[in-house]
Amino acid sequence: MTKLHKIAAIPADGVGTEVVEATKQVLSALQERHPTFELEWHDFDWGTAYYEQHGRMMPEEGLDELRTMDAILFGAVGWPTVPDHITLWGLRLAVCQGLDQWANVRPVTFHPGVPSPIVDAHERELDWVVVRENSEGEYSGFGGRNFAGREGAGEVAVQSAVFTEAGCERIMRFAFDLARTRDRRKVSCVTKSNAQQYGMVLWDDVFARVAADYPDVETEKVLVDAMAAKFVLRPEDLSVVVASNLHADILSDLGSAMAGSLGLASSANLNPERRSPSMFEPVHGSAPDIAGQGVANPVGTFLSAALMLDHLGHPDEAGRLREAVDKALAADVRTRDIGGGATTRDVVEAVTAAL
Ligand code: NAI
Ligand code: MG
Repeated sequence: MTKLHKIAAIPADGVGTEVVEATKQVLSALQERHPTFELEWHDFDWGTAYYEQHGRMMPEEGLDELRTMDAILFGAVGWPTVPDHITLWGLRLAVCQGLDQWANVRPVTFHPGVPSPIVDAHERELDWVVVRENSEGEYSGFGGRNFAGREGAGEVAVQSAVFTEAGCERIMRFAFDLARTRDRRKVSCVTKSNAQQYGMVLWDDVFARVAADYPDVETEKVLVDAMAAKFVLRPEDLSVVVASNLHADILSDLGSAMAGSLGLASSANLNPERRSPSMFEPVHGSAPDIAGQGVANPVGTFLSAALMLDHLGHPDEAGRLREAVDKALAADVRTRDIGGGATTRDVVEAVTAAL
């Protein structure tokens, strides 16, 4: 039986448009070969160009339109013509926070044929998931600026991090539940409670309390700076890594760089209760340095689409897509960022053929 899903496509800026288009093509090939699902695309032209025309990143009723969808495939937002805090807050963070996509899931894995800068990494396991608190913490938007033009000390800015017990608890339970589905049942808690004695200490306290409910899951607590080193030095010792909004943002870029390129990294912004649609997007940005050349790596978006298929109840099709990607990579169909000469189009064709 064919299951129909309404999917919003928000390619937004730069290579975002290229990788989302590439992913739609591959998904349509997958759907042709395995007609268990059908995606009904709804395209939204929101982003920096929209902002330049309308003074906002998306229309006022944008979130209501998205609420009628089953999922969202997102490209990347941001372009040198408009300050990044406007574009990010106006679209990506507005969608994540507005739709309460409070868990951000970011897998990190090796792919065959893709060289890692970590020299002996292939002898080790690089297979972990970063679970990012996606609704509060350092990106809560609390603060302000004042005293512009003041004599002497000059302007003052305050940017506060907000940690709630409920917010910490739900992301940690999510991490522990995820750990139970994996071969290695372990959750590593990233913290900075040595320096940040309020928010991060609450974070640690909640972790200890939640961990007590999962006696079958191994735990550890690691300071964020030490965790950055551990990613490189002991990657085989990680399975699920739970971290605050800012910490996980940085660590997941490190993880994807270790896997070979930012262009490979996928992510899901989940509303686990399914009260609103979840959003799937590559980890990278709009890459103005290579945009428009047809060389963007679409693999991060393909793998984000695989996470979307998992979420929509099509794990077999998601697995097929992942296998096809690995086949294409192993056959040396690789874009420039991972040491090849293939174009986006070449990768679409190779993955489609592998399907
Ligand atoms: P970026 O991720 O766009 O680029 C960093 C580096 O990775 C560049 O050298 C780029 O060429 C390369 N790269 C990125 N995606 C690639 C792909 N698919 N294939 C091959 N190479 C790829 O980060 P950057 O330059 O810091 O930011 C550019 C803009 O993107 C900014 O406006 C920023 O705010 C925005 N941004 C948006 C994000 C989002 O929408 N989720 C995430 C990160 C940045
Ligand atoms: Mg990031």
